[in-house]
Amino acid sequence: MNKIASKNAPNLRAISAEVTFQVIEQGQSLSALLLKRTSSKLDDRDRALVQEICFGIMRRLPELNFYLQTLMSKVLTGKNRVLHYLLLVGIYQILYTRIKPHAAVSETVDAVNSLKKSNLKGLVNGVLREFLRQQVPLKEQFSQQSEALQSLHPSWLVNRLKQAYPESRLAIMNANNQKPPMWIRVNQNYALTTEYQRLLAEQNIQSEIDKNVLSALRIVTPVNVNRLVGFDNGSVTVQDLSAQYAAYLLAPQNGEQILDLCAAPGGKTTHILEIAPKADLLAVDIDPERVKRIRENLTRLNLHAEVKVGDGLTPEAWCSGRQFDRILLDAPCSATGVIRRHPDIKWLRKDSDIPQLVSLQQAILNNIWGYLKQGGTLVYATCSILPDENQQQITQFLQTHTDAEQQGESKQFLPSAESGDGFFYAVLKKR
Ligand SMILES: C[S@@+](CC[C@H](N)C(=O)[O-])C[C@H]1O[C@@H](n2cnc3c(N)ncnc32)[C@H](O)[C@@H]1O
Repeated sequence: MNKIASKNAPNLRAISAEVTFQVIEQGQSLSALLLKRTSSKLDDRDRALVQEICFGIMRRLPELNFYLQTLMSKVLTGKNRVLHYLLLVGIYQILYTRIKPHAAVSETVDAVNSLKKSNLKGLVNGVLREFLRQQVPLKEQFSQQSEALQSLHPSWLVNRLKQAYPESRLAIMNANNQKPPMWIRVNQNYALTTEYQRLLAEQNIQSEIDKNVLSALRIVTPVNVNRLVGFDNGSVTVQDLSAQYAAYLLAPQNGEQILDLCAAPGGKTTHILEIAPKADLLAVDIDPERVKRIRENLTRLNLHAEVKVGDGLTPEAWCSGRQFDRILLDAPCSATGVIRRHPDIKWLRKDSDIPQLVSLQQAILNNIWGYLKQGGTLVYATCSILPDENQQQITQFLQTHTDAEQQGESKQFLPSAESGDGFFYAVLKKR
């Protein structure tokens, strides 16, 4: 992994420090920043290292900050604040990568020049060398801190999880702090899942079948998508196991009018059409940039749908009086079920976002219900694990809509190591 950088190459530690600084101090999204900073500028190996460091820092931020606070008497502020993040980059490499500790220190110290703070090289060098000397007692000290700090989650979320899942909260938070498994969805029109598994094995890619979800395969050691046989022709889609339930619960039929609302980037849109290619499907999302990705995914899979930019709060603007047999509402949510894939969520979300999201979900659900035919089915989905956005939302909806009934029990999946992400589903029928 470690690579001696040539003189003009972008400095990977400096990029990692700037990216993590912008996420935590400026509230920007980690994946958007990584795309901007690494996509065309770095080769695969360098990109992987920056990603590893930035994701790792988001996962372990309270621990890394604890070490720095203990080692440094003064907090770095103002224009020098970025060096706080460079020090986190250094400590993360020492503790959690295979880079040799002394190489990690010297590469990190070199990044000070790229950040144009050469006068503080001595400080960075000194703090990292002190960390090397003291890491064992520091780790011991961290292991004696409060459960909340050791959980590596913000206290508001620890409290909410404690309330909702008194027994399993530690397992959930532990799963959130791990690297996520890679799940793919095998397009059953291309190959059966067992056949595709054999094709992968011929390429020395080991995978495991899920016993409940027909199309799901877990790639034991994650690989780049271009190594997946037939990917460009739509053989498979990268999609988490829990997310694959959506289309099966919706149970789309050819010839039906179907609405996929909050559809971007189209993971579930394409699954619906793999199951019912002749359904008349409208896919809508509020974000024009993300809507482009629905179109790209449809093209890759050679599937057809009407795709629109639209706000779920104002369906009259884009629905032109249409009524649907089935609606999938994959509602905007806290994304607390997918923290392991987007660890910056822990630091970007605030407790006060939750009631706002609950109101938004409720308003979209109320509005779109009017566009479901009598006898029609609506699947309400979130990638949240918080009851306010999930079961409580549905209970409240059923109390206020006498023409709605729930079909079967709702499903609340919790994130777990070799299984799926945290997801919620409720299937509603219109009487
Ligand atoms: C969880 S993501 C959807 C994932 C997608 N269904 C899939 O499977 O690929 C939620 C989406 O809701 C969209 N969104 C947020 N607020 C919306 C609104 N008021 N109306 C429509 N879409 C909205 C976001 O742009 C985002 O793409």
